[in-house]
Amino acid sequence: MDFELSEEHIMIRDAAREFARNELLPGVIERDEKQEFPKAQVKKMGELGFLGMMASPEYGGGGMDTISYVLAMEEISKVDASASVVMSVNNSLVCWGIDRYGSEQQKQKYLSKLTTGEALGAFCLSEPEAGSDATSQKTTAIDKGDHYLLNGTKNWITNGNTADYYIVIAQTDREKKHRGINAFIVEKGWEGFEVGPKENKLGIRGSDTHSLNFNDVKVPKENLIGEDGFGFKFAMKTLSGGRIGIAAQALGIASGAYELSKDYARQRKAFGTEIINHQAIAFKLADMHVNIEAARHLVMKAAWEKDQGKNYDTSSAMAKLFASQTAMDASVEAVQIHGGNGFVKEYHVERLMRDAKITQIYEGTSEIQKVVISRNIMKD
Ligand code: CAA
Repeated sequence: MDFELSEEHIMIRDAAREFARNELLPGVIERDEKQEFPKAQVKKMGELGFLGMMASPEYGGGGMDTISYVLAMEEISKVDASASVVMSVNNSLVCWGIDRYGSEQQKQKYLSKLTTGEALGAFCLSEPEAGSDATSQKTTAIDKGDHYLLNGTKNWITNGNTADYYIVIAQTDREKKHRGINAFIVEKGWEGFEVGPKENKLGIRGSDTHSLNFNDVKVPKENLIGEDGFGFKFAMKTLSGGRIGIAAQALGIASGAYELSKDYARQRKAFGTEIINHQAIAFKLADMHVNIEAARHLVMKAAWEKDQGKNYDTSSAMAKLFASQTAMDASVEAVQIHGGNGFVKEYHVERLMRDAKITQIYEGTSEIQKVVISRNIMKD
């Protein structure tokens, strides 16, 4: 067993760290406050290869492993979780899904633009009444011979307005339940496709989250991903990998909170000494460090299993469950260590605390991760 990163992994991690410090840190507080999408920064992420890291090189992807991806996700999330969710959705849910299950034509037409940042993707599964209960899709895609007719509403869609291409999950044959669900690639601008108002969120405020309405949108047959009825399994497989990305995002938020707290505790004085010398603070840092290391091991294990071609459904759910709890705990403690300053925006930790919460909700709540884990361990 080797816990060392390769030289290539270190290079990727350092490149992401540098990008985050130089390009994302300036303006991160203002973007959060104004709910401003990091447009220029995302464009640069595309140019640097951060948007299609694991995708096949013949379609413009980086052909990298999942370990590289989680290293980059952690570094970017330490600084700007709004930018990292854009990166996560595009890499894991959109590029990976099309690369793995899409047709040659879909890869040529869509993937080659999504990997380079020329286009951005969104993944549309959740609905007003189908968040955790993903089989209860109300959006319909009725087979009309040469096309499908798409009708319905999707909610809480990351990159909702900024995306160009949307993977939409919809019910084609209700009688077949989840086996009648399909996944399609839908282009922005198609007749009947409307982007709803932007959500005003607690955290990741720089990312744009919208509801979407589909009113008699004609989707060509060639935009169906995989075979008829494959949509639910497509969504589940894609989300399994997505959860590794969100676990890495949570890890980044936790380690960002920890690093800021350690630096602060070394400088801030109280009762005649730097507060890091008080056990009340040192013990908090010790707990943060232990949990972050444990989360990192789970994230790396899940990424490694995916790279080895093993089943990673359980390990990705475990990584997300634990890392998101670690992000919450570490960021709450970071605010506490910073005291009054922690409550003030310029110290960053209050934003990390707000951003941490979503990692326990999207791509399956913590409760859903426990459903996945418990069902899978019972099969052993
Ligand atoms: N891989 C392949 N197939 C899978 C699978 C997986 N990981 N998980 C389930 N399936 C298959 C099952 O084998 C079953 O197929 P068969 O009947 O043919 O054998 C089928 O899918 C149905 O499975 P279940 O009976 O387990 O389905 P369920 O209704 O009990 O739900 C669930 C399972 C795990 C709760 C699922 O609904 C789920 O993951 N819910 C959460 C959804 C979610 O993560 N939403 C997030 C939205 S996306 C997002 O947040 C993106 C963003 O913008 C950031």
